[in-house]
Amino acid sequence: MAARLFEGKDHAAFYKKYRFSPPQKLQETIFSYLEKKKVSAFQLAVDVGCGSGQSTLWLAKRFEKVVGTDISEAQVEEAKQAAHPPNVSYLVCPAEELPFEDNSVDFIMAFAAVHWFDLPRFMKEVERVLKPSGCVALSSNTLDMQVHYKDCTEKLTEIYNEFRVRSFKYANDKVRFIEDDYKMVFDALPFQDKQRITDIFGAVPFTVAGLLGYFQSFSMYQTFLKAEPEAAKSLLQNTEKRLLEAMGVSSLETPVEMRMRHASVLGCKNS
Ligand SMILES: C[S@@+](CC[C@H](N)C(=O)[O-])C[C@H]1O[C@@H](n2cnc3c(N)ncnc32)[C@H](O)[C@@H]1O
Repeated sequence: MAARLFEGKDHAAFYKKYRFSPPQKLQETIFSYLEKKKVSAFQLAVDVGCGSGQSTLWLAKRFEKVVGTDISEAQVEEAKQAAHPPNVSYLVCPAEELPFEDNSVDFIMAFAAVHWFDLPRFMKEVERVLKPSGCVALSSNTLDMQVHYKDCTEKLTEIYNEFRVRSFKYANDKVRFIEDDYKMVFDALPFQDKQRITDIFGAVPFTVAGLLGYFQSFSMYQTFLKAEPEAAKSLLQNTEKRLLEAMGVSSLETPVEMRMRHASVLGCKNS
């Protein structure tokens, strides 16, 4: 079954502000896969579960037409309002009912999104809309993350992990797809020609304020905030205080880096 989260306007605004594009290394991995598979035409790419468009734009330089789709009107509205090149457009629709003809799409991707879909129904759509030899890349950051600043990486990562553990009781069951590094996603992809890569590393530069904004964009934190507003706000304030103390700084504008490991399932439809 699909999970309906991320749809409120406030949550979409956090997304727009604090989420990031797939890291360079993942982009390179995907494009070299497409080249290896000799995707003949780079005409149409679809980014399913595009959110506010961060995962969509990098495709515009390689494909003639790029369509970002998302079930959330609020997310798509944020995406439409952000600057985007003329070959990129956005649509509100469920991943399980893609409004594309059979055999019409060259490349389908989803970043940090496929685990929220009704997987069997989505996979049927992937198989239906991809052209013969068309490719799919289903990727996400894993739970394996480190907060890096000078020599306090260990302490900052511990503070981040405590934030995650405290929010985790509000995590949706779908998080298990990330916990197993997309093995279940790999198993669900109905193609013979497929592979799973779990050691793609990337770093995202944040300020401390940006990092706290990113934490607030987690669906489990948003659920926590709705259920126990005071406890959730106090966790965030406490996390902020502890991060600044551990770093020995007072400014929320101090730069930090979030280092993340990503997993990706790549597949090619039989020709
Ligand atoms: C974690 S966000 C990732 C957004 C974006 N890809 C990014 O990289 O920031 C997951 C997105 O999937 C969307 N989503 C969840 N279930 C969906 C479904 N069944 N069909 C289409 N989109 C869905 C949510 O609305 C949300 O925008």
